[in-house]
Amino acid sequence: MSENPETVQDVKILLVDDEVNITKSLRRLLMQVEDYEILIGHSGAEGLEQIREQGEVGVIISDQRMPQMTGVEFLGEARKLAPDAVRILLTGYADIDASIAAINQGAVYRYLTKPWQDDELLTTVAEAAAHYRLISENKRLNALVAKQNAELQDWNNRLKQRVLDQTSQIRAKSDTLAEMNQQLRTSFGETIEALAGLIEMRDRRVPGHSRNVAELVEAMARRLDLSAEEIRNYRSAALLHDIGKIGMVDELLRKHLTEMNDVELIEYQRHVVRGQAAIDPVLELRELGLLIRHHHENYDGSGFPDGLAKDEIPLGSRLIAVADCFERKLHQFAEEDALKEALAEMKLEWGERLDPELEKVFSAAAEEIFSQLEILAEVIERKVAPKELEVGMQLRHDLYSGTGVLLLKKGTIFDEAAIDAIKRCFMIDPFEREISVLIEKNQA
Ligand SMILES: [Fe+2]
Ligand SMILES: [Fe+2]
Repeated sequence: MSENPETVQDVKILLVDDEVNITKSLRRLLMQVEDYEILIGHSGAEGLEQIREQGEVGVIISDQRMPQMTGVEFLGEARKLAPDAVRILLTGYADIDASIAAINQGAVYRYLTKPWQDDELLTTVAEAAAHYRLISENKRLNALVAKQNAELQDWNNRLKQRVLDQTSQIRAKSDTLAEMNQQLRTSFGETIEALAGLIEMRDRRVPGHSRNVAELVEAMARRLDLSAEEIRNYRSAALLHDIGKIGMVDELLRKHLTEMNDVELIEYQRHVVRGQAAIDPVLELRELGLLIRHHHENYDGSGFPDGLAKDEIPLGSRLIAVADCFERKLHQFAEEDALKEALAEMKLEWGERLDPELEKVFSAAAEEIFSQLEILAEVIERKVAPKELEVGMQLRHDLYSGTGVLLLKKGTIFDEAAIDAIKRCFMIDPFEREISVLIEKNQA
């Protein structure tokens, strides 16, 4: 152990001996070499008293032979009060065995024999003081590290809490944004549905056409495992596919394709380009414009306006073409046989007008949508006023407002929202007829 004068100066040294001369000469000796702070006790009890009063004692030197309390007993007690103090026993030759035992028990750091050699004593005390300083410094550093660790931990916890707080703020904001986005999307969808209603009012020969086509397109798109966004876009394009007909003259609208002359046919064909141009200024709809433009292209390339064929035609347009073709056929036949006849006629279209790869998804989707009316097998028909509508009733025929806007398609099963919408519309645009509904027999 090396001696470092800088570290021993402020160490307190306690000298305990019943002989006053001994403590005096020890004090003198120590003061010659270092500016130690010296405490004196003339018995074990006085020594303990000094420790209690003076606090931090670095080195204790005690005589072994004292009345009442031996040096070893005293140092054992002192250890309890000042565990870090370095304890040295002064002992005669006769007591060496007892001193060695005390060292082995850990009560004493070192012993010196009486009479002592000055040099040896000074060196031992200096080493003891340095040893004590090391222990204290080590303790101080440990305490400092523990304090800094605690601060670091505290800082870490606060940082973690801040990150958590900010994360939850960000999450709340993103939830709000998502909600606003959803509201926007909903009102966007509702606007497109309203537009579809306008388009249908223009061409009354095929009531519910836009919405029927949209429903079928959506059902087919779902079966093709397309993304939610693609499905939404295809449905919107289907709802608006005939928007170009809004500008068409009534006479032309009333005619079937086979009855049109060349000039009329060209004018009719323009509705796809007009449709695209009509929605082009709306940035969100621009993408749909292309699907609208090509909904009358034929799979074999014989359609209009650009004569595209096969995969050149966007998938959305090919889906609309299938649904559009089928929906028109449905209107050509009497209600009872319409589905069967229309399905049979569709068989002639695949490969020429329509993409044959879509036949499978079309059949499945058509079955899903048009078999709805058969879900309630045991039903009776009843006519009710809007205020008599109940949840679970099924609409027998397409329902129009007083001025001819399609409100609900036949087959719709009423829920609370549909009933509310019908009641509201009845007040704005009342329809005279009562509503035909189907009710399960056991509920009638
Ligand atoms: Fe069309
Ligand atoms: Fe159409």
